[in-house]
Amino acid sequence: MKKLRIMSVFGTRPEAIKMAPLVQELARREEICSICCVTAQHREMLDSVLQVFHIVPDWDLDIMTPRQTLSTITSKCLTGMDQAVEALSPDMILVHGDTSTTFAGALSAFYHKVPVGHVEAGLRTYDKYSPYPEEMNRKLVTSLADLFFCPTEQNRDNLAREGVTKGVYVTGNTVIDALRTTVREDFVFSTGILNQLDYAGKKVILVTCHRRENYGAPMTAIMTALRRLAEAHPDVEMVYPVHLSPVVQEAAKKYLGGRERIHLIDPLAADEMHNLMARCHLVMTDSGGLQEEAPALGKPVLVLRRETERPEAVKAGTVRLAGVEEQAIFQEGCRLLEDDAAYAAMAHAVNPYGDGSACRRIAQAVLHHFGRGDAPEAFHA
Ligand code: UD1
Ligand code: UDP
Repeated sequence: MKKLRIMSVFGTRPEAIKMAPLVQELARREEICSICCVTAQHREMLDSVLQVFHIVPDWDLDIMTPRQTLSTITSKCLTGMDQAVEALSPDMILVHGDTSTTFAGALSAFYHKVPVGHVEAGLRTYDKYSPYPEEMNRKLVTSLADLFFCPTEQNRDNLAREGVTKGVYVTGNTVIDALRTTVREDFVFSTGILNQLDYAGKKVILVTCHRRENYGAPMTAIMTALRRLAEAHPDVEMVYPVHLSPVVQEAAKKYLGGRERIHLIDPLAADEMHNLMARCHLVMTDSGGLQEEAPALGKPVLVLRRETERPEAVKAGTVRLAGVEEQAIFQEGCRLLEDDAAYAAMAHAVNPYGDGSACRRIAQAVLHHFGRGDAPEAFHA
């Protein structure tokens, strides 16, 4: 029987980390020819992930430019995808999450009348501008997709409320599959400072902050709160791998640069990041992916945002919304650093986002769609 040509399209770091184990799973399936097309919306941060997971793309649109706008990303992806889809003739296109690459990839598939599978479907904040532009991207992709791979039952219910019930699978999040391959007790960091940190004697806080809706005043408030936290707690070592966005680079240098016990470092390779997270004391972040990974590793998370589309770990008690106001973030941080009981209450491993088998379920659902096998069983937290 002819192999199904399944094309995964991604372009940013988080999509790559979450699609990498799926690309590998699809490649293991005899019935599938796994094709990988990257937009390279991120260049260095994408290449780093490809290297960690040993993935060589079949097609690379190479679209990134410094300080790119939402319109240029979308239009360059769309134009570039025309050629890729024509040359590679996929039977299905898989996109991930909520980036501009995700939206343009799904739209291009529709223009070419190729069915779309949406990985990490059904996340919602119901606020058009937060996260921006991600909330709108995922809603638009819902309209374009044929198959919906929801990490959680709540994500499935979100889609059901919008009338989307066909082709919906609860699979768990593929990021948990990725974590299973990267975190090791005997991991040795290649980033020097990470081997030198005293993880037992100090409180290592892992920080990331990059979201567009936080640019400007919120980012200033977040970074000022982080600086105050480090200054007020001599037992804290803060590690912040700074996103390559020039806006973020400038803010991080301005508000956190040259400070004692605040380590601004280059973005980390995914395996380094995951192992740092496994060893740190606390995570403070506006990242989506970190909110899913840290709970699985038993690390409390303070989310540097007003809302989250990932309420499952908040409900489980390991993630708290700290907001984007300086004083509130500072106080939430102090509470976890100074109150052992408050810390202990949040520092337990939970797995609301997956059991490490999401990619197997997605591959099985894709085959089922084409009449080649049974539907997968659903993931239950
Ligand atoms: C993008 C996604 C966001 C996701 C984030 C993950 C959109 C609109 N945004 O935001 O959903 O959470 O990625 O990190 O899709 N840059 C480099 N090298 C790199 C990567 C970025 O130099 O490897 C710089 C470039 O100047 C680039 C800028 O960062 O123009 C911003 O990148 P962009 O993809 O537009 O936005 P992100 O904020 O990274
Ligand atoms: N990550 C990484 N190196 C870093 C920072 C983040 O590998 O220096 C990983 C992180 O572990 C997670 C993903 O990148 O898997 C999250 O990406 P990001 O925060 O850029 O985007 P978001 O998840 O917010 O869309």
